[in-house]
Amino acid sequence: MKTIIEPFRIKVTEPLKVISAEERAAALKMAHYNVFYLNSEDCAIDLLTDSGTGAMSTKQWAAMMLGDESYAGSPSFRRFEQTIRNITGMKHIFPTHQGRAAEGILAMTRTHKGDVVPNNSHFDTTRANFEFVGVNALDLICDEGLDNAYVAPFKGNMNIAALEQTIQQYGKEKIPFAMITVTNNTSGGQPVSMQNIRETKALLEKHNIPLILDACRFAENAYFIKEREAGYKDKSLLEIAREIFSYADGATMSLKKDGLVNIGGFLVCNDDAWAEDFQNALIMREGFITYGGLAGRDLEAAAVGLMEALEYDYQQYRHATVEYLAHALDARHIPYVKPVGGHAVFLDAKAFLPHIPPLQYPGIGLANALYLDGGIRSVELGSVMFGHFDAAGVEHPSPLELVRLAIPRRVYTQSHFDYIVEVLDAVLRGRDKITGYRITRQPKFLRHFTCHFEPITNIT
Ligand code: F0G
Repeated sequence: MKTIIEPFRIKVTEPLKVISAEERAAALKMAHYNVFYLNSEDCAIDLLTDSGTGAMSTKQWAAMMLGDESYAGSPSFRRFEQTIRNITGMKHIFPTHQGRAAEGILAMTRTHKGDVVPNNSHFDTTRANFEFVGVNALDLICDEGLDNAYVAPFKGNMNIAALEQTIQQYGKEKIPFAMITVTNNTSGGQPVSMQNIRETKALLEKHNIPLILDACRFAENAYFIKEREAGYKDKSLLEIAREIFSYADGATMSLKKDGLVNIGGFLVCNDDAWAEDFQNALIMREGFITYGGLAGRDLEAAAVGLMEALEYDYQQYRHATVEYLAHALDARHIPYVKPVGGHAVFLDAKAFLPHIPPLQYPGIGLANALYLDGGIRSVELGSVMFGHFDAAGVEHPSPLELVRLAIPRRVYTQSHFDYIVEVLDAVLRGRDKITGYRITRQPKFLRHFTCHFEPITNIT
């Protein structure tokens, strides 16, 4: 088989500069050793997130010119609505400015304090939206999903036995709905099988509990099902996506992922009473029902982007880029979560930097080393993001210390990936010199975004 090439050529370029090692050291110091504070121009390769960082196609840019900016009844909304209905089959379709706005409306309208919402794994904004209204957001990932090194095709699956036990324990009155996140970002971008979605739905239906999809990466998940699950090889990604949505009663979506746009989201459902609630909240929070916090041109770009994300060539190429990186890491014995996810590679910082104890944040050590060595921006998913303090104020580390290299869509080429591997190689060779960090300032919530660090230079 020949090389899987980028199924596009480049028409517009954006300058990318590798600033000097001295400049990088100064920039990181200015940023209090927290990559969230870096200026993006100072990042040669920015792998902080795959959210809203993709490149749009000529068809999307052309569609933007068709954007009708009327407050109500715009044809751009109708094109957006038709596309989403074509994919999801849902009756009611509401645009939102991001995925988290859809989550906020869902939490605000359909849950009560003391309710329980199970999910295979909640994304942090989903969890935050539920916890904010007093809902217990439960993660019920399957057992394979908890083992970093274990290779299985669908490590993002819901643990159905645990879901059944949760329903017994809390009772269906306390569970307004359950969720499945495709792909499972929090567990390493791992996919969920069709069988698992079907079985989850069957169990929920028995108890009359609706199923809501967090559909951010539904097209990537459809690709994994086509490649890995029996019976789907000859189906198109659109057909697979339709089947996924057919088991759901509603969905939240960040169009910044598989919508292939820089901003946008949606909230969809079948039930008329739910739709009524969503509509009222949408008008109050986001905007009128035919634009929901977006410009008409954004709706147009998303309508085109959603269909492009379902093109097989595009998904095949995208997956090949992540696999390419994974193979290079294997060849160098660089530890990462296996198998590789759909949108990112998750480096295992604990195995990479065994000399740094968890509460000296090996993930920060590794993320900062990648920046210092090559200007690569990544993000820690370890004890800074997921650690917690107990009632006595004692800090407890997270079980995993990961660093995510998220791959923006249609942005970087093979030589960029080769460069990333060279930087990783150099960092690996010099890893004994990498230090841990201490936190010098931290906020109460979501500390990873804004806390300040300093290197611990006096390790013995
Ligand atoms: N759900 C999942 C699974 C996500 O990954 C995200 C965003 C959201 C919901 C929220 O969507 O950003 O449009 O409000 N994930 C990004 C990330 C930020 O970097 O993984 P949003």
